[in-house]
Amino acid sequence: MRDLHSNTNERWALKRLKNHDRVSRFEREIKACQKLHHPGIAPILDYSLSQPAYFVTKHYPWPSLSECQPLPPLEALKTFLKLCDTVAYAHQHGVVHRDLKPENILLSENQDVVVLDFGLCYFEDEEHRLTETMEQVGSRFFIAPEFESGRADVVTPQADTYALGKLLYFLLSGKRIAREAFTGEDELSHLLKNPQLLYVTEKMLAKAITEHPRDRYTIPELRDAAVQVKQLISEHYYPGREGAKCRFCGEGQYKKASSMSLHVRVPGREKNVGFDILICEHCRNVQWFNTEPSI
Ligand SMILES: Nc1ncnc2c1ncn2[C@@H]1O[C@H](COP(=O)(O)OP(=O)(O)O)[C@@H](O)[C@H]1O
Ligand SMILES: [Mg+2]
Repeated sequence: MRDLHSNTNERWALKRLKNHDRVSRFEREIKACQKLHHPGIAPILDYSLSQPAYFVTKHYPWPSLSECQPLPPLEALKTFLKLCDTVAYAHQHGVVHRDLKPENILLSENQDVVVLDFGLCYFEDEEHRLTETMEQVGSRFFIAPEFESGRADVVTPQADTYALGKLLYFLLSGKRIAREAFTGEDELSHLLKNPQLLYVTEKMLAKAITEHPRDRYTIPELRDAAVQVKQLISEHYYPGREGAKCRFCGEGQYKKASSMSLHVRVPGREKNVGFDILICEHCRNVQWFNTEPSI
């Protein structure tokens, strides 16, 4: 539909409108980006609405999420939290994105994100909200069920919660799912043979991609759940390290007492597993930590 040209030396990106009939959508995108000042949203540097309409934004030399491999759980959650922060910021300023999908999100190596493409966004202070009829909103796998008919009488920020839930699933698995109803087949823990991901399914997806907007988490609730899950995964499944906070008293730091390797037998195979023995300097609690993360 539109061309995007970029000049990486000058670090700007040009977006041109090909079909001038869509100029109001284009204007909407410019208006949203001008209203929002956040590191996760590209600032508008210049624009014109007369034919040929265009706008120029800061350029980010990063791939879109659709070009990225599935991420390890902690990286996926870190990325997800940044996404939640950016979307929550837009909501606080009355803008619901409505087209969150991997192609519209750029990801840096440090898990910084930029949310693009506000062309289908919804301004909460618009007066014609009850009568607005949209062309098909959003992408099939990420669109909230209330938009499936191409029209939603009541647009709530929870439409973005739904897409974020699907995005979390995508970040972890690289898969797009069409249906919000989970079966044993598409549960993340089952799909990725990773029992730890049951936390994600139970604590987050169940309340993010449920059908009715009123039953869904708000973005701050989803964010809180993501922080909790990240904590659970890092505490239970990632090794402790010298200098880390004691998991027993929560005050002292671990110091390494010694390391050892054990030959262990798991069903069907044998392997060597390394352990660090760490002692808390404050409470003297002793912990053994597997030196490799189990996920
Ligand atoms: N500011 C930018 N910096 C780097 N790449 C960008 C930028 N804006 C857009 N892109 C790239 O161009 C693609 C299309 O941009 P987008 O704004 O989503 O346009 P469209 O409305 O055509 O979907 C994105 O998927 C992304 O890869
Ligand atoms: Mg796009």
